[in-house]
Amino acid sequence: MKKLAILGSTGSIGTATLKVCAAHPESFRVLGLAAGKNVRLITDQVRAFKPRLVCLASEAAAMALKSALAGRKPEIVWGRQGLEKVAAMPGPDTVVSALSGSAGLLPTLAAIRAGRDVALANKEALVMAGELLIAEAARRNVRIIPVDSEHSAIAQILNGRGLEHVRRILLTASGGPFLHYSREQLGRVTPQQALKHPRWKMGSKVTIDSATLMNKGLEVIEARWLFGVPPEQIQVVIHPESIIHSMVEFVDGSVLAQLSQPDMKGPIAYALSCPERLSDVVRPLDMVKVARLTFMEPDDKKFPALRLAYRALAAGGLMPAVMNAANEIAVHTFLEKKLSFSSIARLVKRVMDAFHYQGSMNLEAILWADRWARAESEKIIDRMQ
Ligand SMILES: NC(=O)c1ccc[n+]([C@@H]2O[C@H](COP(=O)([O-])OP(=O)(O)OC[C@H]3O[C@@H](n4cnc5c(N)ncnc54)[C@H](OP(=O)(O)O)[C@@H]3O)[C@@H](O)[C@H]2O)c1
Repeated sequence: MKKLAILGSTGSIGTATLKVCAAHPESFRVLGLAAGKNVRLITDQVRAFKPRLVCLASEAAAMALKSALAGRKPEIVWGRQGLEKVAAMPGPDTVVSALSGSAGLLPTLAAIRAGRDVALANKEALVMAGELLIAEAARRNVRIIPVDSEHSAIAQILNGRGLEHVRRILLTASGGPFLHYSREQLGRVTPQQALKHPRWKMGSKVTIDSATLMNKGLEVIEARWLFGVPPEQIQVVIHPESIIHSMVEFVDGSVLAQLSQPDMKGPIAYALSCPERLSDVVRPLDMVKVARLTFMEPDDKKFPALRLAYRALAAGGLMPAVMNAANEIAVHTFLEKKLSFSSIARLVKRVMDAFHYQGSMNLEAILWADRWARAESEKIIDRMQ
């Protein structure tokens, strides 16, 4: 029986994680839950899974949960400190880190510092502070197990082996809903169109990131830290069917791939159970029905966000945190219909161009760079209006 705390339990990954837990009650016990504002859903989750500790983003949301629950109640906390309390609570073997955006960094770090294994969906934490999180996990002998389907595929292929025989990692990308759009068409994309992903049902931030290909850029950085591979050994391949979740090419020219139906319950279940496997998690794959798998190179003229991520990785230091924060502001502003789709990458580039800091690299500096990039993004957006 594995004991879990789930950060972001009301989100797309959080709810899929709880489906895995509900389907395998003999394997999992949920001790802690944390979410933002969705009181209605977390009330149902508390009734179903009976955690000991629950956190919501605000005191008002926490009080609303308290009054919605009858009988014996869990301890209910709120805010940033509450999140870190759930992340570091005594009891869980694994913390599922599935908040969206930079809000995931400090709780993920708190979980590692408390000695918990982390099933990591929140790629932004690794983008902002990959070196620091990996070093902290090594110091505490904690595993960071990927939930992202691409990184789960790579982890499954490598299966704990080192990189000495690896030539390249081939990170697959669906290409998003606008793969075949012209640059002119991309300029007119609305939030409503961008929120409809052809393969995956996900939270709004990651869905927009998938449409701009920034998501793949974030994943390149994530792969660099999770597997210790240099960026020149990570190649992105567009694979619209999303059946191959990534591949590893070895020095002898052999390529291993991991395939399944595109369903996040697969990588979530693997992250929670590996090296064992749970039964009947994802619908079987009928290769005859799939029939065709196609691949192409990403077009970084139409989708410049991917190039920006390689640039941030090459620059190193605080640049990935700056890129991540600028992207979060850009996505948020696009969703508010105050920035065009094509301006998302333009804004991120302008913020990166304006960043020249060359100082030390620690948690305080990362949080400062995050704040600086947000303020700079707002200034540039004002000038763009
Ligand atoms: N969805 C996928 O298929 C997928 C696949 C691979 C990786 N990922 C990664 O997984 C992470 C989560 O993605 P998602 O699609 O599950 O996002 P999502 O559906 O938007 O869910 C985000 C969760 O985080 C909570 N949350 C957000 N900000 C918070 C804050 N400040 N304090 C407390 N809780 C907060 C939300 O709570 P409320 O809703 O209650 O406000 C919700 O539970 C992202 O980093 C994403 O890139 C997602």
